[in-house]
Amino acid sequence: MKIYDEYADWFHLLTARKDYAAEAADYVSLIESICPDARTLLELGCGGGNNASYLKHRFDCTLTDLSPRMLDVSRSINPECEHIAGDMRTLRLGRQFDAVFVHDAVEYMTTADDLRQVASTAYVHTRPGGVALFVPDGTAETFAECVDDGGEDGADGRAMRYQEWAFDPDPTDGVYEVHFACLLREGGAVRMIHDRHVHGLFTRQLWLDVLASAGFDVTLPPLDVTTHDTQVAFLAKRPAR
Ligand SMILES: C[S@@+](CC[C@H](N)C(=O)[O-])C[C@H]1O[C@@H](n2cnc3c(N)ncnc32)[C@H](O)[C@@H]1O
Repeated sequence: MKIYDEYADWFHLLTARKDYAAEAADYVSLIESICPDARTLLELGCGGGNNASYLKHRFDCTLTDLSPRMLDVSRSINPECEHIAGDMRTLRLGRQFDAVFVHDAVEYMTTADDLRQVASTAYVHTRPGGVALFVPDGTAETFAECVDDGGEDGADGRAMRYQEWAFDPDPTDGVYEVHFACLLREGGAVRMIHDRHVHGLFTRQLWLDVLASAGFDVTLPPLDVTTHDTQVAFLAKRPAR
């Protein structure tokens, strides 16, 4: 995907850090509700590090992502955090954390087997008694075709405006598409890029089954829709023994 690779250094003009403050505060509360003394946190799929830029004030954060360029974007706002390249399905760091956090990057899991692998990665990196928090953009039950637009002005004469369109061309195949039309402006010069993303669409029950099979005890805490729109939180505790 172009936005996570050749255009990664435009990412913070697509989605700005300041827009993550309220949701990140909710994630801290959810993690503390299971693990009040949590100190270390591993994020799988940190992207540009927007959530992490708030979480790091409460936890020692280790941030991982498939894209080395996105890790550079995150490093630019989170230089004090450890960054490691890796696929959330196969990452094995050989250590455990009080909390594992998986945000919208999990949308790129397009099969139930992908989801099982991520659940397993989260489980092996969560210490007994610790917690893993998964917050996909939604589930099969909450998905609806939608359009969105936005963009930011940078401090360096660059600016972006985009339109985003999510739709499901084949409701039987378990995935949907998100298309971005982005206008990239540098001074008076404007380029346009089109980026197509394929996201997985899993039922709430499949999520619950996959996380339980990995070994977690799972709850579904309610989220305020004014902050979280269609997002769903799966709060997964690794039993103490
Ligand atoms: C929308 S961005 C995440 C933004 C992030 N929530 C934030 O706070 O800035 C999605 C990220 O998922 C990453 N990603 C996609 N597939 C992945 C995989 N298999 N393992 C790890 N990261 C992945 C992409 O490289 C991209 O950086």
